[in-house]
Amino acid sequence: LPNAEILVVSNREPYIHNDDDGQIALQRPASGLVTALEPIMRACGGTWVAHGSGSADRLTVDENDHIQVPPEAPTYTLRRIWLSEEEQDGYYFGLANEGLWPLCHIAFVRPVFRSSDWEHYVAVNRKFADAVVAECKTTNPTVLIQDYHFALLPAMIREKLPDATIITFWHIPWPNPEVFSICPWKEELLSGLLGSSILGFHTQFHCLNFLESVDRFLECHIDRERSNVRAGNATTLVRPYPISIEWPPLALAGQPPVPECRKRILERYGLKPSVRLAVGVERFDYTKGIADRFRAVGSLLERHPEWIERFTLVQVAAPTRSRLEAYRDTQVEAQNQADAINNRFGTDNWKPIILVPTHHEPDEVFTLFRAADICLVSSLHDGMNLVAKEFVAARDDEDGVLILSTFAGASRELHEALIVNPYDIQAMGEALADGLSMPAEQRRDRMRLMREIVGEHNIYFWAGRMLLDASRIRKRSNLER
Ligand code: G6P
Repeated sequence: LPNAEILVVSNREPYIHNDDDGQIALQRPASGLVTALEPIMRACGGTWVAHGSGSADRLTVDENDHIQVPPEAPTYTLRRIWLSEEEQDGYYFGLANEGLWPLCHIAFVRPVFRSSDWEHYVAVNRKFADAVVAECKTTNPTVLIQDYHFALLPAMIREKLPDATIITFWHIPWPNPEVFSICPWKEELLSGLLGSSILGFHTQFHCLNFLESVDRFLECHIDRERSNVRAGNATTLVRPYPISIEWPPLALAGQPPVPECRKRILERYGLKPSVRLAVGVERFDYTKGIADRFRAVGSLLERHPEWIERFTLVQVAAPTRSRLEAYRDTQVEAQNQADAINNRFGTDNWKPIILVPTHHEPDEVFTLFRAADICLVSSLHDGMNLVAKEFVAARDDEDGVLILSTFAGASRELHEALIVNPYDIQAMGEALADGLSMPAEQRRDRMRLMREIVGEHNIYFWAGRMLLDASRIRKRSNLER
């Protein structure tokens, strides 16, 4: 989009400043959204509007709440928005994460909808809309709105900036109309999103679910041939844009060779040099199926006892949204499950599961990926899952086996992974056994194909396709004037 001003809006900010015993510590959050968008902003410049969530965030901004980032070599502006405790409780923990998150993930966690949360959600969307309008220097910027925290923002911005190109990307699944219908504010959410010029999802399936929901609950014209929705004069193009990662990823630079990574990780966790290693990396979220993958390790050891003392799963899990009970329960359940498997199969100097419940920075995660024989992604439901793609990107030695849930969007692209149903524990255990005994040549052929796909369909390809569609829409509307 030559000359267009670019603004990104998301709840989670790409750089968090925390107070660490009087020192300011910088954190890069565990968020697929941030992993995907940050390289784009580094390349394009512009303004990123997000919630200032760190305890030292206020100390690092100027009088306009701006900070230039990335800290080491700034290329764009981060504008922080401050939210009160009540706003965070209602908009973020409440409506977004107790309502929309389980609703869209069909996660068997009952969504909670409180009117007071909804009021905060509306108010915070309004607050971000005002900030976007205030940040704009032109009347026709390109605004990239991210995720389920901001379903109302597109229409709110459209009202103030009718000529803006608004691209909204929904990073999580969209459920079918029956499931969606239990949300008391379904019409408002749908109408809000239809303020977008383009509305993107990861898969065609999610686009179809969205169009069906519009068809069921709003009076709009749906053009299935062109995949768009017309409401009044406005048209929203609804298309799949599978998200991806930077290629090659920044975190790969400076990584030691694979054997060195392996040595470091085995030493760090006190493992014997002969042990075969699987890794899992996620936020402690109930959609990720962490306890289920531990059960699969149990099934592996029960059915293939030859792996006892010869195999370990290192699971890194960052605590997340811990104010919510469902998240605390997830962590407790995973810990209990790991203990149970370790008690059952562990020996004096070996444990099958090492659970590390702390946040890890991207370069540590990449060392872990490079050290592993297997990466295990067992999401019960996931929009895309970028861990799978990062594992592939980390393996420039063309080795390593990916075991991937069929319910993650990534399984639509990474066909050479061992695709599993995470609800079928025994089958997941067998996939571990297959992965551990896969011949080197087959591992290489599979990894090569996956690297080709992720390298080609990288994050610039994702953004490029959306921006190209946006630029066509802009040119057409100029013609119509
Ligand atoms: C998912 C969501 C993102 C979110 C991330 C981390 O990937 O789609 O919007 O940023 O989880 O969650 P958090 O609530 O910590 O931002």
